[in-house]
Amino acid sequence: MKALVLAGGSGSRLRPITHTSAKQLLPVANKPVLFYGLEAIAAAGITEVGIVVGDTAAAIEDAVGDGARFGLAVTYIHQDAPLGLAHAVLISRDFLSSDDFVMYLGDNFIVGGITELIDEFAVGRPEAQIMLTTVSDPRQFGVVEVDEDGEVLGLEEKPPDPKSDLALVGVYIFTPVIHEAIRTLAPSARGELEITEAIAWLVDNGRKVRATRISGYWKDTGNVSDLLEVNRALLENLATRCDGTVDGSSQLIGRVVVEAGARVCRSRVVGPVVIGAGTMIDRSYLGPFTSVGEDCEITESEIEYSIVLRGGSIRGVRRIEASLIGQDVEVTPAPRVRRAHRLVLGDHSKVQISS
Ligand code: DAU
Repeated sequence: MKALVLAGGSGSRLRPITHTSAKQLLPVANKPVLFYGLEAIAAAGITEVGIVVGDTAAAIEDAVGDGARFGLAVTYIHQDAPLGLAHAVLISRDFLSSDDFVMYLGDNFIVGGITELIDEFAVGRPEAQIMLTTVSDPRQFGVVEVDEDGEVLGLEEKPPDPKSDLALVGVYIFTPVIHEAIRTLAPSARGELEITEAIAWLVDNGRKVRATRISGYWKDTGNVSDLLEVNRALLENLATRCDGTVDGSSQLIGRVVVEAGARVCRSRVVGPVVIGAGTMIDRSYLGPFTSVGEDCEITESEIEYSIVLRGGSIRGVRRIEASLIGQDVEVTPAPRVRRAHRLVLGDHSKVQISS
């Protein structure tokens, strides 16, 4: 079995946090979402991986390289324009050949990996094996209607009037029959070849489509609460490590990772917390479930249950909670009352808030 990872797309699909970089490289617990997918693929015993890339090809190729460090052999497949998930499969036909394959959307995070899904596929080898999860706003997803026995009745892509709250998760396993289904597609209303419609074709033509329900799922819909929850779940398994420097007047409590070149001075860190390489924490408090990326500066501030991306600078701010702070963001105080702030800031933002 091969894997096809979709890491294309263009800046036309703006999400609040990743408008300047590849959304697949958004870090959780200081590791890009895409890497968890690649690790899950490797853990499932797959080695041949095609990665579909688009406008952000350079950033993806730079981050993943030849895949050797994941134990994978990666082939890059360039997609000129994001013409749909099924289009990505279409242009990968040579790479996929006549093999079964798992298609993994690079901006999806699945707690617990995909090994079980692949084992399930091996039993009975349906034409398509899909994963479903309940979501609060199905209109943002492919929506699947199932009967009481879990049989798939129909699928629709981002319906205005969803027939269920079961969304298609971005991991699918296909036999080569999917290529036959894709050949029948015409561009959808949004101008894309929809994989959801190809799966619907399989159902309509009496082919076997099996669905498994999962929990523990996140995708880049701008839903910050889910992202923070995934970050929390990952930090739960953190193993303490200090490759940076911590001065004598700082206190590290619980599981804390201090990466190489990071410095903690006159601060209190209550884990689980990860502090990225080259980051400076000074006269500050970092509370549980916080991931601070590389080359950040946190001075005279308090922050907990939050994610700070690379290059963030937070100075003199009390107190930040349940926040996601984009790359190279600067947060500084504006004079006034003390209270907690909840922030959702895109990359390169600069905000001033009362502190
Ligand atoms: O995440 C699950 C959802 O993914 C499913 O519920 C939907 O049925 C499915 O259509 C898809 O929805 P989105 O429209 O949100 O997918 P998005 O455009 O975010 O693309 C998913 C990934 O595939 C992302 O990493 C970008 C990549 N991609 C996307 C397109 C359209 C490509 O590589 N090429 C493309 O042409």
